Amino acid sequence: MQFITRVAHPEAVKADCVAVGVYVGGGLTTAAQRIDQVSDGALRAAMKSGDVTGKVGSTLVLRDLTGVAAARVMLVGLGKKEDCKIKTYLDAVRAAVKQAGAGVKALALAVDGWTRSDVDLRQQARLLVSTARETVFRSDELKSKKEDPAVAVKTVTLLLSRRDAGAERGLSEGIALAHGMELTKRLGNLPGNVCTPTYLADQARALAREWKLGVEVHDRRAIEKLKMGSFLSVAKGSVQEPRLIVLKYNGGAKTGKGAAPVVLVGKGITFDSGGISLKPGAAMDEMKFDMCGAATVLGTIRAAAELKLKLNLVGVVVACENMPSGHANKPGDIVTSMSGQTIEILNTDAEGRLILNDALTFVSRFKPATVIDIATLTGACVVALGGVNSGLFTEDDELAADLLNAGRAVNDPAWRLPLDEAYDEQLKSNFADLANIGTPGQAGAIVAAVFLKRFATGYTWAHLDIAGTAWKSGAAKGASGRPVPLLTQYLIERAS
Ligand code: BES
Ligand code: MN
Ligand code: ZN
Repeated sequence: MQFITRVAHPEAVKADCVAVGVYVGGGLTTAAQRIDQVSDGALRAAMKSGDVTGKVGSTLVLRDLTGVAAARVMLVGLGKKEDCKIKTYLDAVRAAVKQAGAGVKALALAVDGWTRSDVDLRQQARLLVSTARETVFRSDELKSKKEDPAVAVKTVTLLLSRRDAGAERGLSEGIALAHGMELTKRLGNLPGNVCTPTYLADQARALAREWKLGVEVHDRRAIEKLKMGSFLSVAKGSVQEPRLIVLKYNGGAKTGKGAAPVVLVGKGITFDSGGISLKPGAAMDEMKFDMCGAATVLGTIRAAAELKLKLNLVGVVVACENMPSGHANKPGDIVTSMSGQTIEILNTDAEGRLILNDALTFVSRFKPATVIDIATLTGACVVALGGVNSGLFTEDDELAADLLNAGRAVNDPAWRLPLDEAYDEQLKSNFADLANIGTPGQAGAIVAAVFLKRFATGYTWAHLDIAGTAWKSGAAKGASGRPVPLLTQYLIERAS
């Protein structure tokens, strides 16, 4: 699917279909008004007849209107004019692309008035691209018969009333963002027997080759040398070899102010069985998604590199499997982390924090400006926030605001949860410096974050718990590509 911008009037544009927005109650957007005028009121007539309601995501295609160059005009519902939000815009774009029909290869979108006026063209263009591409994404690489493409549209034209550099920029940003999300989704959807820690390392190497990134892959021996006893304790339960992967994108200053990198740390549990604290069988297959934090790091770095963002970025992926075996962690085991702190493992299923703590100690060597870890960390976060918001934890109000704003701007929202020291009580252990779980049923997402906080010292840090947002269950089962949009938007803002 390709994307272009074009300065043209909607009635004059050459395309198989031109899509214009209409509102509940019969209101027309500017583009719809123009088409209505040249076609002797064909749009108003259609709305009056009740054939089109204007409801968000509803569409109606009219053919061969007089005075209109395109063979089809699609009316796309935008709901009530005063309620138009970014989400309305995304739903409308999705509907237009999906319902364009088999004859529409070139689709032109006259998107004026499709959102509130405070969303600029650059932002609109960016979202248009990533949303349109989402409608064609498929995970069929492991199917022997490929499915037919969901939509026929090959070229999407963003119709503009005048040249706009922001729209052009937004278009290329949208493509980079879509590429990043597609990588994240692809890796997320691959099963645990394919997407192993070794596979993730190979993917990182391929990414480094393609985008000229620095890459280091640490194997078990190297991880041992780093004294990552906590990470290794999880890894040793599996026959899959662990990997610690470092990717470096250097788009910023070489020295001095501005040289300090943003470091992204991703949880890469390629399958989480729970270990000896085995998970129940229902939906256990979904624990192949427990590496979505790692996939987000790779997807975001890809987007940043494609956008040539002017900043330095380091991606760290900690990858292993969490399996039960004769070598596996047992409840009660005590391990020594790279930080020197000892940890009593009261539940082997709280393994994410066991691998992330060593990564958080490791990253201080990069003298980071900011560290953000991304992890499908707790079922408790799903209970708290569902699939709508990612959980955000940080003590830094400025970083919190930046991340929350970035998420809002790209419809990939997060919600901040607290990190009070009082939660630390729950991590007390009689035998080690801290335990890896707190009191069951009490603020589990926060306790996990407070656990990580003990290791995230010497730099500004935020933690994103994406357990609820990284993938969808049920009929639409699959990785969502979140929070690549949030993080990419944050980096775009930071680099400008
Ligand atoms: N990967 C899971 C978290 C998870 C659970 C994500 C369900 C998405 C859906 C994590 O490793 C885990 O098992 N966490 C435990 C922690 C508990 C033992 C303190 C959990 O949430 O049950
Ligand atoms: Mn677990
Ligand atoms: Zn897990």
